[in-house]
Parts: sequence; C-alpha cells; structure tokens
Amino acid sequence: MEAEQFTVRFAGPEDDPAIAALVVEGFMDKFRPVFGRRMDRSLRVMEKWISLEHASGGVTSLVVEGYSTSELAGSVGVRTEASREDILARGLWTSLTRNLGFARAVWATTLLSYPRYSSDSSEAYVERLVISPSFRRQGMARRLLSAAEDLARDAGKKTVGLHVTGNNLGALRLYEAEGYVEVSRQRSLLTSYFLDIREWLYLRKEL
Ligand SMILES: CC(C)(COP(=O)(O)OP(=O)(O)OC[C@H]1O[C@@H](n2cnc3c(N)ncnc32)[C@H](O)[C@@H]1OP(=O)(O)O)[C@@H](O)C(=O)NCCC(=O)NCCS
Repeated sequence: MEAEQFTVRFAGPEDDPAIAALVVEGFMDKFRPVFGRRMDRSLRVMEKWISLEHASGGVTSLVVEGYSTSELAGSVGVRTEASREDILARGLWTSLTRNLGFARAVWATTLLSYPRYSSDSSEAYVERLVISPSFRRQGMARRLLSAAEDLARDAGKKTVGLHVTGNNLGALRLYEAEGYVEVSRQRSLLTSYFLDIREWLYLRKEL
C-alpha cells in the first residue's frame, strides 16, 4: 500500500496509550538506559507524559492509521505554544517517582532533559516522530511531517524546528530530503556516555 492510502488525522485522548507504545518502541535505545531494570514501567510513564503534554496545552499530536482505524502506524507531536510547565513538570515528576522511586526518577529526569530547547513564537517544534517498524519505508514519516508543517502554517508559524541525534542517519536523510537544514549542535558528555548520543542537531525549515 502507498502512504497516501493511509489516513492521517488529529489524535484524541483515546490514542494516548497507542502513541505511548509507539514512542517506547521507536526510542527503545534511549529509554533502556533511562529506565534500567524498571523498563516494564516505561509504557506507563510515557502514557502519562503524552496525556500531560496534551492536557498542559501547546502540543497537538497527529497520527497515521495502519490497516484499520484502531491500529496506529505512526505519530508525531507538534508544539505551537509553550506548555503550562507547572502541570507538565509536576505531573511527570510524580509519575517518575511513583514508578521508579526517587533516585531513579532523578536520574531519568536528568537524561530526559536533553536536548535543551527553548520555544520561539514564530516557530513550531516537531517532536517524537515515530513510525512502527512494520510500516517503515513507505513514506509515512514524510506524510506526517508534511501534515505537521500544514498545522504549523495554520498556526501562523514561519518555520518548523526539530532535534535529531547525530547518529540517526535514517531520520537525518528524511529531514534533509524534506528541506530541513542544520542551525546548531549541542554536545553532551552525559548522553554520549550513557545513551551513546554524542550530539543533538537542531534543524529548521522555512515554511
Ligand atoms: C525515522 C523514521 C521516523 C522514518 O520513518 P519512515 O516512515 O520509515 O520514513 P519514510 O518512509 O517516510 O522515509 C522517507 C525518506 O527518508 C529516508 N529514510 C527514512 N528511513 C531511512 C533509513 N532507515 N535509512 C536511510 N534513509 C531513510 C529515505 O530517504 C526515505 O525515502 P525513500 O524510502 O524513498 O528512500 C522511522 O525510522 C522511525 O520511527 N525511527 C525510530 C524513531 C526515530 O528515530 N524518529 C526520528 C526522531 S528525530
């Protein structure tokens, strides 16, 4: 099937568990060192994180359906405004301590705080773009990215920005092919050592 035949739509609250599952699966390399032996809790924490992101405002999620309306093949979050940080940060901390205990929650918060990002009112920010492994290389990420850009345009944004890790060559190729160019790089010894992520590239596209 061609990517155009799959439905892209706005996510509703009922999609939060499926989005969380896609994110945990797609970013397993990043989450394993964060959660350690409590990896079984990652889904619960991520589900809470996604629902908090939606509840605290600023982020809209888009999904692409798989072979049926109840199956999600991929998802992306688009930030067009700053979130209510008090709701987001407090809720996430509560979920992390409840699921991982205090010490591991401190550790997780430190690692999950990368990459550093500060919002810009003329720019939309694309985050957690992910396609389920069995649906990859069919143009679905390209479609979701294009829908995210439409959403940004509708919100009056002039540019779209996103982070990608320097070792994520597939995603880098996708973004470059879609017109994103590198504007800056962050390096972190911490994520280099513990997540095998030496650099985070910030890419931007003019709309
Ligand atoms: C990166 C990711 C979103 C790509 O999803 P996808 O649906 O397979 O991507 P598409 O089919 O739309 O690919 C479009 C183009 O991107 C490039 N591309 C995508 N994945 C690639 C890969 N693994 N290797 C090389 N190029 C790749 C190709 O140029 C491709 O065009 P082509 O298939 O005609 O050659 C997916 O692999 C994924 O979910 N990875 C895990 C999570 C992740 O890394 N997300 C990105 C965070 S920044």
